Amino acid sequence: MAPNPDQVLIFDTTLRDGEQSPGCSMTQPEKLRVARALAELGVDVIEAGFPAASRGDWESVNAVAREVQGAIVCGLARCNREDIELAARALQAAPRHRIHVFLATSAIHRQYKLNMAQEEILRTAVDAVRMARELCADVEFSPEDASRTELEFLAQVVEATIEAGASTVNIPDTVGYTVPDEFAELFRYLRKNVRGIDKVRLSVHCHNDLGMAVANSLTAVVAGARQIECTINGIGERAGNCSLEEVVMALKTRAAFFNVSTSVHTSRLYPTSRLVSNITGMPIPRNKAVVGENAFAHEAGIHQHGMLKHHSTYEILRPEDVGLSRSHLVLGKHSGRHAFRERVQALGFELEELEFNRVFEEFKALADKKKELFDGDIEALVLRAEGSASGPWTLVDLKTVAHSKAPAEAVVRLQHADGRLVEQTAAGDGPVDASFKAIEAATGVKAVLRKFEIRGVTEGEDAQGEAVVYVEYNQRTYRGSSVSTNIVESSTQAFLEVINRIELAQAGTRSREERAAAAQAAG
Ligand code: KIV
Ligand code: ZN
Repeated sequence: MAPNPDQVLIFDTTLRDGEQSPGCSMTQPEKLRVARALAELGVDVIEAGFPAASRGDWESVNAVAREVQGAIVCGLARCNREDIELAARALQAAPRHRIHVFLATSAIHRQYKLNMAQEEILRTAVDAVRMARELCADVEFSPEDASRTELEFLAQVVEATIEAGASTVNIPDTVGYTVPDEFAELFRYLRKNVRGIDKVRLSVHCHNDLGMAVANSLTAVVAGARQIECTINGIGERAGNCSLEEVVMALKTRAAFFNVSTSVHTSRLYPTSRLVSNITGMPIPRNKAVVGENAFAHEAGIHQHGMLKHHSTYEILRPEDVGLSRSHLVLGKHSGRHAFRERVQALGFELEELEFNRVFEEFKALADKKKELFDGDIEALVLRAEGSASGPWTLVDLKTVAHSKAPAEAVVRLQHADGRLVEQTAAGDGPVDASFKAIEAATGVKAVLRKFEIRGVTEGEDAQGEAVVYVEYNQRTYRGSSVSTNIVESSTQAFLEVINRIELAQAGTRSREERAAAAQAAG
């Protein structure tokens, strides 16, 4: 079937460019959950990672290629044989896959980063695209820092890589430097001066350093781009990437202006955004367009009056279009399974029966402690049930005593999956510090606490507190989170999740080493 010229492909790079940003790293199971959510959202391409970056990255890309259906699975590679072969091997299980090769072309990168002349860049890019084409029918090429590259040279590289077999050419604004008019001009220049450009799909990849990633991506579409590279919640290097939910809703809301469509099921935007925020620990600003808490809130009297007359007075998007069916309906301990199930579904979550039963039990337990449960509470229950890192340690009991004039004390009792029951007491600078120290003593894992955050999941006196803990261990950062009406307990559970992640990672490393040793012994 010939490609529809009015269809803009959505290339999601949350798992590659998004995951690359500080504090956003994800474990392999988390990456799989995000990849499945992206496929359900209806994105066309999932850039699952950079297979040559590390063994873990290779395995994650491979897991997404094996297990996620519905989208093209893509892996990034530098212009060298090893990267390209690693990407090809990681991706081959996916029914549709793509290798994305990149090489910087701007004078600044040539001189300071690569120490390569123009001719060498040209040759290396062409060789890499040919190499990738031998292993994969779908090859994308990106001239990194394209927006700061001399136009004539950029056109030369694009033309040569198309000739070498690239079927998508992506134009990155790597450092978020360009402005819309200038960027549109660049696309028009390429379309006018590059032979063969009409045979390939032109793509755009913008960073948000000056807050223009979405605007620059939209302007590129007007100038002929038919693929947008973006991330959920706009996460990514530095100020982030083009935000998927914003760019998709701009194309949908202003369809009469842009005259293009995407295949994204926009009612999945809100749950996907919450999932990524929950997994990465990157909070969504309240005033974030499309998915922020205030995106559909109307405070001013004049606005509320207008809204009561007709929503179109002050609302250009409907909350349900993005999957946000907020309600002021409050659930409590008398709410039954039916009401709870309806709320879970209205919030965009599909739970299997077993999972649902477990979350419902937790809901009941929470409703005993907390009079009214809001949407935020229910989301926290569901997201935790879907993703909590079930590791070897479980918190059986926690007791803390805080003094204003003396160190606090904590007693933790932990159960290990191997049957051990361990109890430890520790003193600390406050009950949270004391319980972290008691956990370290009980598990024997000593980690360096780098960041600790507490925020209210909802409003009100009995709001639940979400604790997020970042620690460093063996030069890696681990993150854990937990929610409870008792913030000492949520902090302790978050810290224990980190310890579980560390133990799981160590067990993974050990079994990889054992497998490698066994393979070597077998010759
Ligand atoms: O920002 C960038 O240039 C990139 C490329 C690898 C596409 O992420
Ligand atoms: Zn990028």
